[in-house]
Amino acid sequence: MPEWQAFSTAASSADVCLKSVRSFPAAGLHVDVSGQRYSPELESAAEQLLSARNFTAAREALLTGGICNPTEDRAAWHTALRAPAPNAEITAERERLNDFIRNADASRRWRNIVHIGIGGSDWGVRLSVNAFGYRKVWRNVRFVANIDGHAIEGALADLNPHDTLIVVASKSFTTVETLENAKRAIEWLQAANVPDPYEQVVAITARVETAKKWGVPESNIFKFWDWVGGRFSLWSTVNLTIAMVVSSDVVAGMLAGAAAMDTHFAETPLHSNAPVQMALSGVINRSVLGYGSLNIAPYDFRLGNIVSYIQQLDMESLGKSVDLNGEPVSVATGPAVWGMPGTDAQHTFFQWLHQGSDGAPVDFIVCQHADHKWRSHHQTLLAHCLAQREALLRGKNYGQALQECLDSGVEPGRAEWLAKHRVHKGGRPNTLIVLPRLTPYTLGALLALYEHKVFVQGLIWGINPFDQWGVEYGKVLAAGILNELQHSQAAQVKHDASTAYWVNQFTDL
Ligand code: F6P
Repeated sequence: MPEWQAFSTAASSADVCLKSVRSFPAAGLHVDVSGQRYSPELESAAEQLLSARNFTAAREALLTGGICNPTEDRAAWHTALRAPAPNAEITAERERLNDFIRNADASRRWRNIVHIGIGGSDWGVRLSVNAFGYRKVWRNVRFVANIDGHAIEGALADLNPHDTLIVVASKSFTTVETLENAKRAIEWLQAANVPDPYEQVVAITARVETAKKWGVPESNIFKFWDWVGGRFSLWSTVNLTIAMVVSSDVVAGMLAGAAAMDTHFAETPLHSNAPVQMALSGVINRSVLGYGSLNIAPYDFRLGNIVSYIQQLDMESLGKSVDLNGEPVSVATGPAVWGMPGTDAQHTFFQWLHQGSDGAPVDFIVCQHADHKWRSHHQTLLAHCLAQREALLRGKNYGQALQECLDSGVEPGRAEWLAKHRVHKGGRPNTLIVLPRLTPYTLGALLALYEHKVFVQGLIWGINPFDQWGVEYGKVLAAGILNELQHSQAAQVKHDASTAYWVNQFTDL
């Protein structure tokens, strides 16, 4: 595509901008992309590339419920869930959910919530509860995602079964981890002789009939729809646990912040459209500059789970290498996403970011104001965040390193040797996202920012960001192996030699 060639050429010769600030206000956030490649030529090539990719029509389809997920023949209309005036069906379901919560709160019922779900049915809820429920809340919450029996065992330990609500969140209501863990929870309730165990279960799902057959009373089922992708389901009734553990106001704030980011994405010119600009940087870093990963560095202890949240969002969406026509994409697509909150990350892997041979672009996320009273803690946190970023950006050349050594009294011969170890390449791409403070509104806006960024990257690469056939393939193979293990039979399915060997070893358990 000539537009790609022009974009890639312009990106290769563009540079990071050390002399001026390129920062965009977006739904209450500030997205500073000064640390990403930029030139006026690149900006115009980017706009032409987006136009060649029918960006305007694709965005319109996304935001109005068009078929954006052609391999599963469905929309990806999560934005409808957070629209200021959602349609009647969405409103009615939300009202049912709110009634349920109001009744539980009024009767001070359910001191404990066990939230069972995995992937998109877990990360966003876990993130939000940790972000806003880190101070004491009156309900205990436990999250169970992993099939490892230690997870459910630990979660149920020391809870009172008579005052525990089990929330089973699963879009498909077929996910083996979730259903097995939910069965253990039911057994635990039965063993405690609660009057009606299934009355203590709530299901959040797009498969109401399946949940009913499983045993959940219809009045305890809160639905969402097929057109909500699993990794976008935080905006649906999946957020019940957030409302129950922290408050319904938190959910309302998050929906409002996300909706504000949707408006920004829909209406802001491309050159200052934050998700678009982040997506362009993402494509440049991966496909032009060859960075294989993206580091997420939240400088906010409360946002620890945002790394996993973005990891699923970005990697499950962009981990594809075939375009919509089924042809291989000719450039590298979605990066590996990883990270850890700062400042822990500084003492874990930042050395590699500064001086490793590969390095990675970094998204720094920080709140200008803290919500605790220790000013010096927050000033130190901010200082570290800015300093790490500056070091990655500015680097240090040999001359500077040598002078530094000489100035500190190192003898010249040793200084020449030592200086070589203290060179920092610099020019490492990064984005700084500043939240005025962490509120439900700003968190909602932040998550929607990443959702739209991912969508635009998918569009530029020509891939479908809304399916996940790789995950499905693993699930099918696991079902076959499980069948063999449970029936203690020699490997039936055709396996490679090593898998067959271990299937046979494990059938004796
Ligand atoms: O990981 C694959 C996936 O399908 C995710 O997209 C989804 O969030 C997760 O599994 C859980 O699926 P479900 O909500 O259907 O249990």
